[in-house]
Amino acid sequence: MAKEINTIGVLTSGGDAPGMNAAIRAVVREAISKGKKVKGIKRGYAGLLQEEIVDMEAKDVADIIQRGGTILQTARCMEFVTPEGQAQGAEICRKHGIDGIIVIGGDGSFKGAQKLAALGINTIGIPGTIDLDISCTDYTVGFDTAVNTAMEAIDKVRDTSTSHERCSIIEVMGRGAGYIALWCGIANGAEDILLPEKYDYDEQALINNIIEKRKKGKQHHIIINAEGIGHSASMAKRIEAATGIETRATILGHMQRGGSPTCKDRVYASTMGCMAVDLLCEGKSNRLVAYKHGEYVDYDIDEALAMTKSIDEYQYEISKNLSR
Ligand code: ADP
Ligand code: F6P
Repeated sequence: MAKEINTIGVLTSGGDAPGMNAAIRAVVREAISKGKKVKGIKRGYAGLLQEEIVDMEAKDVADIIQRGGTILQTARCMEFVTPEGQAQGAEICRKHGIDGIIVIGGDGSFKGAQKLAALGINTIGIPGTIDLDISCTDYTVGFDTAVNTAMEAIDKVRDTSTSHERCSIIEVMGRGAGYIALWCGIANGAEDILLPEKYDYDEQALINNIIEKRKKGKQHHIIINAEGIGHSASMAKRIEAATGIETRATILGHMQRGGSPTCKDRVYASTMGCMAVDLLCEGKSNRLVAYKHGEYVDYDIDEALAMTKSIDEYQYEISKNLSR
């Protein structure tokens, strides 16, 4: 018989992402509407081990849907990677009467959720990361806001780049993944997009392209460089030396993680928050909420973590055609 869930814990873990608050709000209000108690766990697994656990009522999530960051705060916690830390975490859940936990975070956080599930605490994950690098889902909470933030910033750099007829290298986040770079590259009409999944480190080809496009009359040359490739400042120096074109590097950095979530992030995060509660109430555990091929679905965490995903080949091909 499925375990009955009376008290649901919720935590955010790993890097924060805009829309996490919308997910927390949905978890709290959906759970309360189903007659469950909710406990907020602060600072991810670190807060769980420190027993930073607070009761949450509907009013505690008022006025947060529009706010970036996470009201529960987040952390990375090495102690929780150990079997001892995980056993202690499960014991603390039992002590506080938490029968199910909703973990909002990325792959690392889901490994923690997987361990808690194996120790008898029902767990459901919600994909929350600006990087879009979770294989089982086409959507992660925060990506939409992050790419819109980056796109607006890149438009601004482009204005000054055109005025000065410069080459601009703009580095965007994404850890080892190039999704933010690819989406911005297309949205901003970049002349070159460098993705960790595709880049062959042929800098001479890049230089030749800059020279060729300048001859064709392009007044700027925007290169979107993914964080996974990095080294934008030294790349700028080499390009300027080889082309004679003034070249500047801009690293957008953590501004991409903040700000008020877009409508899409608010709505999808709210839906996923409710779904996570519904799954727990159905007695499900060790599952991830996802958005795949236009539908909200859920996957077994073990299967989800074993999946792989790569850059959309068609999107990558057209990005090159569009930059002529
Ligand atoms: P993300 O969730 O965004 O991928 P991290 O990889 O930093 O971020 O993971 C967040 C946290 O999840 C870690 O600080 C740690 O507490 C927990 N975690 C990561 N890997 C494991 C693991 N193998 N087992 C248990 N917990 C883990
Ligand atoms: O995973 C989100 C992310 O912003 C990545 O894009 C980036 O590589 C990393 O987190 C930065 O982490 P920190 O906030 O620890 O500098």
